Amino acid sequence: MTVSTSAARSDDPDHLSEVARPSDSRRDPELLREALGKWLAAQLPDAAAPVITRVQLPEANGMSSETILFDAAWGDEAHALVARVAPTDTTMPVFPHYDLESQFQVMSRIQEHSAVPVPAVYWSESDPEPLGAPFFVMARMTGQIPPDVMPYNFGSWVTDATDSQRDRLQHSSVNVLAQLHRIARPWELFTFLRLPGSGPTVNEALAAHIRREREFYEWTTQSGPRSPLIERGFAWIEENRPDDPSPAVFCWGDARIGNIMYDDFRPVAVLDWEMATLGPRELDLGWMAFLHRFFEDIAADAGQGGMPGFMRPGDLAAVYGELTGHTPRDLEYYIAYAALRHATIMMRIQTRAIHFGQASSPEDPDDLILHRAPLEAMLDGTYWEKIR
Ligand SMILES: Nc1ncnc2c1ncn2[C@@H]1O[C@H](COP(=O)(O)OP(=O)(O)O)[C@@H](O)[C@H]1O
Ligand SMILES: [Mg+2]
Repeated sequence: MTVSTSAARSDDPDHLSEVARPSDSRRDPELLREALGKWLAAQLPDAAAPVITRVQLPEANGMSSETILFDAAWGDEAHALVARVAPTDTTMPVFPHYDLESQFQVMSRIQEHSAVPVPAVYWSESDPEPLGAPFFVMARMTGQIPPDVMPYNFGSWVTDATDSQRDRLQHSSVNVLAQLHRIARPWELFTFLRLPGSGPTVNEALAAHIRREREFYEWTTQSGPRSPLIERGFAWIEENRPDDPSPAVFCWGDARIGNIMYDDFRPVAVLDWEMATLGPRELDLGWMAFLHRFFEDIAADAGQGGMPGFMRPGDLAAVYGELTGHTPRDLEYYIAYAALRHATIMMRIQTRAIHFGQASSPEDPDDLILHRAPLEAMLDGTYWEKIR
């Protein structure tokens, strides 16, 4: 899942990642060790007798599912593993549905049908009994992830890198998208990702995607306020919808560098597949470009220089064009769509923080959206003139 507003709040750095991520018993390492050990023993042959030697919760990056890092030993071998667990309803999840089995299927198909590095996936458990919610288990990878808290552009291994290292990171990250979008016959391979009203013979994937985003927004308003800005955004997105969008490809969804693990500035693991979808390639490019702009706007508000030369939309489009032969279309439209989608997610995360007493309600619900001003400027058509 994507980044948190609160976590990234520049005016309140001590707040950090505990915000809006309510804990429950599944975060108790001892209980987890016991539960995982019992479950793992049932997956392996009797003679394996697995032992869970360590359980750890990741320090950063992620606000939606629970990620449990653990070490297990069986058959004279040590195994470094990760369990990704759906949130329970008591934690007021960000999204209405968590289909861990679908994420598991996406990852195994990506592994089989592309050169994109994804952690090997081993088991998918639909029974909520063992850990309180469905989960899957994958290989634990090692590398560096651009941090969300504090954002990488505030000073991190990404800003410390040389220009050529950063170029390599940018180029190889766009190449992840290029490789995913190249996967043949996505409608057949990912049948389970089809949205109502969308299919291979009609170019309706974008319209279907927007419909589902609206449903998501409507769902968030059942427990949170309505947002005039988000509603204006949806009207704008409909009015400006391209007549002939790029045909649908497999899209990663949460396509951002904060979901990539790097070694020597090249991806070694592409994580976080819960937003995977079938849609125009620009959905991924727009999301990738926007999430950098999101951090850049936060940096500017905090009086920081940021990384203005990094992840620029025109550069991403140029690299993508070179790698694929497809010149991205309507990229600014897709960046605005990303900003709108991110606004709904931010509202939800802030509503959750308020629900758990970690934040207070603003008078104007649009103030729940950290990037309110940038989103307004995008809808007004004034955002990019200030950047350039
Ligand atoms: N296979 C893995 N190997 C190592 N670390 C992982 C793995 N999967 C997740 N993580 C850690 O957990 C964090 C959150 O994972 P991610 O898949 O991005 O979930 P979220 O939906 O919570 O953002 C990552 O930033 C990383 O630190
Ligand atoms: Mg993530």
